[in-house]
Amino acid sequence: MAEGIISQPIRRWWWAGGHPQAIRVLRVVRENPRVSTLILDVRMEAQPGQFLMAWLPGYEEKPFSLAEADPVTLTVARVGPFSAALHVLQPGDCLWIRGPLGRGFTIEGQRILLVGGGYGVAPLAFLARQAIAQGIRVTALTAARRAEDVLYADRFQASGASVVVATEDGSAGERGRAPEVAARLLGSGSYDALYGCGPEGMLEGLRALAAAFGIPAQLSYEAYMRCGVGLCGSCEREGIVLCLEGPVLRFQ
Ligand SMILES: Cc1cc2nc3c(=O)[nH]c(=O)nc-3n(C[C@H](O)[C@H](O)[C@H](O)COP(=O)(O)OP(=O)(O)OC[C@H]3O[C@@H](n4cnc5c(N)ncnc54)[C@H](O)[C@@H]3O)c2cc1C
Ligand code: FES
Repeated sequence: MAEGIISQPIRRWWWAGGHPQAIRVLRVVRENPRVSTLILDVRMEAQPGQFLMAWLPGYEEKPFSLAEADPVTLTVARVGPFSAALHVLQPGDCLWIRGPLGRGFTIEGQRILLVGGGYGVAPLAFLARQAIAQGIRVTALTAARRAEDVLYADRFQASGASVVVATEDGSAGERGRAPEVAARLLGSGSYDALYGCGPEGMLEGLRALAAAFGIPAQLSYEAYMRCGVGLCGSCEREGIVLCLEGPVLRFQ
């Protein structure tokens, strides 16, 4: 593209996965009635915590965290029209994606605690696998409302992490919300970094906990995203353009 004619942001969009590519679905795993995992017939060079924009004809593009990059894997909760359309995809169907986008997690610490609420566990399972490969001790807390909503306990286990399950109603694992259970874990172990992905309230609880325990926290935030590459401003919160500077933010 000609320098000077095309503006810097457009160049950034063009190079940053600007072309959605049609990719076939290889496999679908029904995690529970509301959550499915799509395994796509493509691999990407990506960091845990990065996301991609997914699109189907007739729908708006939406962001999804990479649950794995080789092959690209997305874990999708059915909450509205687009995620419902993803839930009816079958092996062989096409999904359009562009990415990887955003800043992911940086691996730091020697004994780390990962806390995922609902489908927030997806990027953390990718992170757990990479951290364990580097010899880091990983505890993964997978938190949900009820036993039937708990996700990824088996995947964390298979990657070699110590797994803690927490449910709000006590129907599986420890009873309590994610930050309460995380506080108990931090109080009883010598963790040197905290990672989180999940609902906003949970992230704020984790941020406060990390400050109280004097350890760094890397937390993955959600926002309404349209371009995914810093052009439209729809994901800006408190001066931070989350699709570019996040979705993972680090707090000391
Ligand atoms: C960086 C990033 C990563 C993401 N990663 C994932 C992921 O890995 N898996 C995933 O499933 N989603 C993920 N999301 C959210 C995903 O983009 C939305 O779930 C999707 O936009 C929903 O689109 P929709 O058209 O189905 O529903 P919408 O029409 O957008 O929403 C339908 C209704 O559900 C509500 N709603 C939207 N999201 C949620 C939610 N999470 N929980 C409860 N209610 C909700 C809306 O407020 C609205 O009322 C991510 C978002 C961001 C920003
Ligand atoms: S989604 Fe457009 S600036 Fe972030």
